[in-house]
Amino acid sequence: MTDVIAIAPRTCGIACDMPIQIGRAPDHSFEQPLGLLSDCHRRIEHFLKILVRVDADLSGGPLTDDYRRALDAALRYFETAAPRHTADEEDSLFPRLRASDDPAAQQALALVDRLEHDHQAADVHHAAANTLVRRWLDDNRLVPADAAALRDHLAALQTLYAGHIAVEDHELFPAAARLLDAPALQQIGREMAARRGLR
Ligand SMILES: [Fe+2]
Ligand SMILES: [Fe+2]
Repeated sequence: MTDVIAIAPRTCGIACDMPIQIGRAPDHSFEQPLGLLSDCHRRIEHFLKILVRVDADLSGGPLTDDYRRALDAALRYFETAAPRHTADEEDSLFPRLRASDDPAAQQALALVDRLEHDHQAADVHHAAANTLVRRWLDDNRLVPADAAALRDHLAALQTLYAGHIAVEDHELFPAAARLLDAPALQQIGREMAARRGLR
């Protein structure tokens, strides 16, 4: 079981025109760790889009049941599953690229440095956004200053992830596929599974 299917499968809608699929099965297994990391990107984009949509629709106003479920699912994802994705990269993938003695690895390592910096910036915005979303769920509304702050943090995350995910999906992961051998990739997959309490 991965992060995404640890959430009870259900489908709900916001304003009838934005189906939210929570619990979509991953496309890759732990035997394909680079593909699995890209699958996680689709979930990051999905749950961030949900937060942006709820914020755009309600601007901190009272929550209906559907909006509340959507916010709660996104919050749980960003509080619990997303940090594991960062750990997959920073603790399992990046160190193996740094340890590679292949000359072609130098270009990938430059990317890694930039990506780790992005993670730190994203962490700051996620922490602030999570606090505000939790407050919204607890109080059923946000004061205008908090609603504006949430919008700013979500916009920053969308901008940051647009570049970050593109670099990982289209440059770093293909480079890792070329530079890392099968045993290294298998070990990364095992570490990702262990991070989720799986063998
Ligand atoms: Fe990343
Ligand atoms: Fe990533």
